[in-house]
Amino acid sequence: MHFTSILLLGLLSANHALGAAVFAHFILGNAWNYTLATWKEDMTLAQAAHIDAFALNMGYGDSSTATQAALAFEAANSVGFKLFFSFDYEGGTGAWPQADVITYLNKYGSNSAHYKYNGKPFVSTFEGTAAATEWITIKSETNCFFVPDWSSLGAEGAYKAGGGGIVDGLFSWGAWPSGPNNMDNATDLTYLDLDVPYMMPASPWFYTNLAEYSKNWLWRGDSLWHDRWEMIWELQPEWVEIITWNDYGESHYIGPIREDAISLMTTGGAPLNYIENMPHDGWRELLPFAIDTYVNGNATLDYEGLVTWYRPNPSEACGTGGTTGNTASEGQTLYPPAEVAQNKIFYSAMLDSHANVTVTVGGQSLGATWEHLGRGGAGLYHGGVEYGSATGKVVVTVHRDGETVATVAGESITATCTDDLSNWNAWVGSNVSNSTRKTNTRRDVPASLPVKSRHAHSHLHRGHNRFH
Ligand SMILES: *[C@@H]1O[C@H](CO)[C@@H](O)[C@H](O)[C@H]1NC(C)=O
Ligand SMILES: *[C@@H]1O[C@H](CO)[C@@H](O)[C@H](O)[C@H]1NC(C)=O
Ligand SMILES: *[C@@H]1O[C@H](CO)[C@@H](O)[C@H](O)[C@H]1NC(C)=O
Ligand SMILES: *[C@@H]1O[C@H](CO)[C@@H](O)[C@H](O)[C@H]1NC(C)=O
Ligand SMILES: *[C@@H]1O[C@H](CO)[C@@H](O)[C@H](O)[C@H]1NC(C)=O
Ligand SMILES: *[C@@H]1O[C@H](CO)[C@@H](O)[C@H](O)[C@H]1NC(C)=O
Repeated sequence: MHFTSILLLGLLSANHALGAAVFAHFILGNAWNYTLATWKEDMTLAQAAHIDAFALNMGYGDSSTATQAALAFEAANSVGFKLFFSFDYEGGTGAWPQADVITYLNKYGSNSAHYKYNGKPFVSTFEGTAAATEWITIKSETNCFFVPDWSSLGAEGAYKAGGGGIVDGLFSWGAWPSGPNNMDNATDLTYLDLDVPYMMPASPWFYTNLAEYSKNWLWRGDSLWHDRWEMIWELQPEWVEIITWNDYGESHYIGPIREDAISLMTTGGAPLNYIENMPHDGWRELLPFAIDTYVNGNATLDYEGLVTWYRPNPSEACGTGGTTGNTASEGQTLYPPAEVAQNKIFYSAMLDSHANVTVTVGGQSLGATWEHLGRGGAGLYHGGVEYGSATGKVVVTVHRDGETVATVAGESITATCTDDLSNWNAWVGSNVSNSTRKTNTRRDVPASLPVKSRHAHSHLHRGHNRFH
């Protein structure tokens, strides 16, 4: 009896150390103009955020893929970063031919910068369900570890695709809530119930408006970036994939905006350049803390920091641009976008102990409060406040005992829109406290969550999958 439980505990912690990795979906098709230096810069930024690897999304038939994949591997080897392929069966000129997939995996699978799981080259997809059985051959010829996103089939359908036994794990594209609702975990639970490890998606936002692709809708972002990490801490999936590093067209990039990578704003038929002056870098500020908490159950707070985000145009102020809340292309009920995206300023802070938050718009104080507190005083705080009809400069400040901890003076909220078109993208800003950084108050924030039954359950599944 004692022997069994000790063994089990050993197994659980060993699994935890082996799994628990965080990736970011990287659209290779936006990187035509990348040089070795650009690649290294993006990888260094991702490493600073504690991201383990990029999932290189590749559409078939893009003439820049071979060159950019080679450069990416060269850069990854040079900075000590990891990569794997995410074959996009819908984003290119057609589905990936089996032989081309095998060629890529055999060319790069043994590269030391290729992300491996159980010693096998890890590989994913965006859709490609019609090619499910091709992966029997691909796996036997490349020894890959296969974790596709076959969300169109649902969790159970993806698990059983091609007669079953094909996937080694599953990734879900279900990263956004439907309708005027906050995110829930129902879809995630359907994946966690299966007998293969789960790659859970985490995304901060979604707005796309590209006439060339007949895309013009949004899903609720709002508090999603905070809420999702709380869910990840609790559900403890085997891996997390952030959607995305650089998908500018869908506004869920957390990487830097690169002027020579956003041609979609002109060639994609966007009626407004919804990327310009809309940095999302602040969303990475929370990641070391969020990722370490997911991986280790605790994190070191090196310094206190604040992140804030909001849409710069109140929803009623300008034309919607025909943007719908949710999309008929996925069979969803449509809502006016103003019902889905709230007129709120959102803020998250990593704090050493309780502090108060103040939000002013055009000098008018809005009565902001926290909706979530760090557990035990230290940790991640989050809230959002309605700004009503206020317009002007936005200032978010976190203060403690009369002293400013961190403040962000952000983009103004304005009811004047270029061409009367509302920009449904988010402006994101962040700042850190230098007083805590100066004194180098490193503080270990202890494991924040009790181990629940599902937590243990999914660990046992990992063990099962790894060792059977
Ligand atoms: C998952 O959903 C259930 C049911 O809504 C809820 O009780 C639970 O708190 C959720 N867990 C997370 C991490 O959101
Ligand atoms: C790459 O640079 C060229 C030349 O400036 C430009 O025409 C093209 O749109 C850029 N590609 C992307 C993806 O932005
Ligand atoms: C936060 O504000 C309340 C109400 O003004 C005040 O009593 C409290 O001391 C403040 N807390 C901190 C940490 O500054
Ligand atoms: C960050 O905080 C410093 C010090 O309060 C301030 O001078 C600076 O403007 C802030 N940065 C932003 C983006 O608000
Ligand atoms: C802290 O220092 C950094 C780098 O010098 C600066 O960018 C930032 O604005 C400072 N923040 C505060 C709150 O003073
Ligand atoms: C944090 O997690 C690590 C790895 O699981 C563990 O070694 C360490 O003791 C933990 N620290 C605290 C303060 O809980």
